[in-house]
Amino acid sequence: MEKAPLQVIPADVVSAVDYEQRAIGHMDAAAWAYLQGGAADERTIQANLNAWATCNLQPRVLADMRGGHTRCTLFGETLAHPIILAPVASQRLFHSEGELATTLAASVMQGVAVVSTQASHRLEDIAHHNQSLGQGLLWFQLYWQGSRDATLALLKRAETADYRALVLTVDAPVSGARNREQRAGFNLPANMANLNVPPTPLPLVPEGGSVVFDSLMTVAPTWDDVAWLVKQTSLPIVLKGILHPADAIRAIDVGASGIVVSNHGGRVLDSVTATFHALPEVAKAVNGAVPVLVDGGIRRGTDIIKARALGATAVMIGRPYIHALSVAGALGVAHLIRLLREELEIAMALTGCKTLEDIQMDVLHTQLTANASST
Ligand code: FNR
Ligand code: LAC
Repeated sequence: MEKAPLQVIPADVVSAVDYEQRAIGHMDAAAWAYLQGGAADERTIQANLNAWATCNLQPRVLADMRGGHTRCTLFGETLAHPIILAPVASQRLFHSEGELATTLAASVMQGVAVVSTQASHRLEDIAHHNQSLGQGLLWFQLYWQGSRDATLALLKRAETADYRALVLTVDAPVSGARNREQRAGFNLPANMANLNVPPTPLPLVPEGGSVVFDSLMTVAPTWDDVAWLVKQTSLPIVLKGILHPADAIRAIDVGASGIVVSNHGGRVLDSVTATFHALPEVAKAVNGAVPVLVDGGIRRGTDIIKARALGATAVMIGRPYIHALSVAGALGVAHLIRLLREELEIAMALTGCKTLEDIQMDVLHTQLTANASST
């Protein structure tokens, strides 16, 4: 039997890992497998975590840090810190308030939350709840809906509800071989609040055909669709799931306003490189044309400073805030964001960086700076 969410944060919960250790007691085993798991042997999940952890920082002493801050600007809006809640589906699996709680926490902490297409509340209800509390900025994560018409209808709903950016996830036209989920017998709840029930049927697989090529990939988006989508809205379109520098350049060519270097938290294709290693090349190719965000394995403020050093404007976190949600609802999520922000501030102060702009490659220890830029 799962434990009820806590009303007060215990004094010994002082980092993301403390929430992770407690979270397993606050959800059922299948939901845990869905949350923690990834594709196949979960090598990419491990690679994401290891890469941030094995890069070292280079402290600097005696710098004047007065007036330092973690503010950053994205798509014309000023955020108090660069820690964005990544889109995570079906959050009521983890807490009865689901997305209402996580978006509230992000807003209270003056940051951004990205609401998944597969949210467990309607996107309008989430936005309304947030606005009624006088709170801030939400972005909407768009999954291609199989056709231009259906995708446009969802986009227009997000626009009307005052979402400020659209994050088109491009790395998961087929879902990964999620073995941990399969072993636990997990299935995403069928009642997707934002989508038609039953969903538009997929093309039938012909006799002897392939589910991937003859069905799923026939309704997947292409670059032409992205070029078309960008023209349908004045909102910034951010492509999530870019790892190759040439894809980053193509994204800018078709009109994307931002990029998220992501391997979907190791949930789609296993044996993909850690985002830590993909980021420098993508940032170099983008060369400041649009903001580059990164996610995958970010668990500490020290990971965030490393991400900035490698060229990210901001980071997104996925699993950690769901751990905090399950343990202590909105309060837990807000607390987690505060912890990460404070860790970032400590790391900045001790590496001589007053602002995020001051964070350059030289905050990384030389030997690893060379490794990061040569991969
Ligand atoms: C995700 N992610 C995700 N991404 C997306 O674009 N749409 C979605 O609906 C979901 N759903 C989802 C569910 C769960 C349970 C997880 C853990 C992740 C991926 C997510 O946005 C992000 O890319 C990763 O979670 C980042 O890695 P970390 O921080 O979890 O290591
Ligand atoms: C996932 C899908 C929903 O990662 O994006 O579970």
